[in-house]
Amino acid sequence: ATMTIILGLESSCDETAAALVTADGRILAHRLATQEDAHRPYGGVVPEIAARAHVEALSPLIEAALADAEMTLDQVDVIAATAGPGLIGGVMVGLVTGKALAHAAGKPLIAVNHLEGHALSPRLSDRTLQFPYMLLLVSGGHCQILLVRGPGDYARLATTIDDAAGEAFDKTAKLLGLGYPGGPQVEKAAAQGNPRAVPLPRPLIGTAEPHFSFAGLKSAVMRAVQSGQYSTQDIAASFQQAVIDCLIDRTRRALAQADGITALVVAGGVAANGAIRSALEKLAADHDLPFVAPPLWLCTDNAAMIAWAGAERFAVGLIDDLTFPARPRWPL
Ligand code: KG4
Ligand code: ZN
Repeated sequence: ATMTIILGLESSCDETAAALVTADGRILAHRLATQEDAHRPYGGVVPEIAARAHVEALSPLIEAALADAEMTLDQVDVIAATAGPGLIGGVMVGLVTGKALAHAAGKPLIAVNHLEGHALSPRLSDRTLQFPYMLLLVSGGHCQILLVRGPGDYARLATTIDDAAGEAFDKTAKLLGLGYPGGPQVEKAAAQGNPRAVPLPRPLIGTAEPHFSFAGLKSAVMRAVQSGQYSTQDIAASFQQAVIDCLIDRTRRALAQADGITALVVAGGVAANGAIRSALEKLAADHDLPFVAPPLWLCTDNAAMIAWAGAERFAVGLIDDLTFPARPRWPL
């Protein structure tokens, strides 16, 4: 028998993407168009501009991915599309397209939770990773610690009570005039600064429940900027260190509450941060756990992770109806 092939579509934020992945984890094609340039003048993602750009970009990306893999749509077995959470206009573009393709080609549709895409992506890059694992999911919209037990089977151990970690990076970049998107810019500036130069709070550190909070940190960064006392590099470095301290303290707390896990895993756009990855790697080593982080391109939004989540769900029979609605909010 031939290997099942999954087409994945992603359009929940500011990246439009299409990818083809096999059920045994081979990436046949992955195409992505970022809208960064369109949103840069506004310093953040503008939903209306995003939805329009997804409409324009998606079909050509699907065709390009099929061409890369030297395939036609008939050879695809399953269509997987992000159905939320995210900016509703963009989510609808990808999901409606996925439904139309599934209907026209007579293929099953998998409505994928974007967070599940991130959560399962480490198993695409490391095919030896077994359930259950502890996942720190840190992106622009989310900051969670999840126990990943299998497709559709998650326990949320922690979440943010206000901002997400990536959001804190983006807001700090804006305050420092570093431009959009903020995470990589802050990391670059931080590499030139002193992480102990600016006294900043570590919200919720030491509390029993391993939740996150970054709003107070953002306000403290704003006061540091306004004081005029510190360099951009020192503020960036001190901010990044404060985020690392929060992530590590909270993850350590979650690790103390879980047993039987196979690995500590990080995913989501913020996992592209080298300093955060090294700190987590050390934490995992302290707990005698393997540390797994997908390659950078698989950490930020992409369609290969959506196709792969589709593959994992399809393998256990989790197929969706064409009436599945787009969901702006959708906790795992
Ligand atoms: O997962 P993702 O691509 O989109 C969401 O689903 O949110 O994550 C994007 C977030 C943005 O907030 C961006 O600033 C952050 O990830 N990010 C970083 C870095 N690269 C991207 N944050 C810190 N350091 C980085 N190098
Ligand atoms: Zn994401």
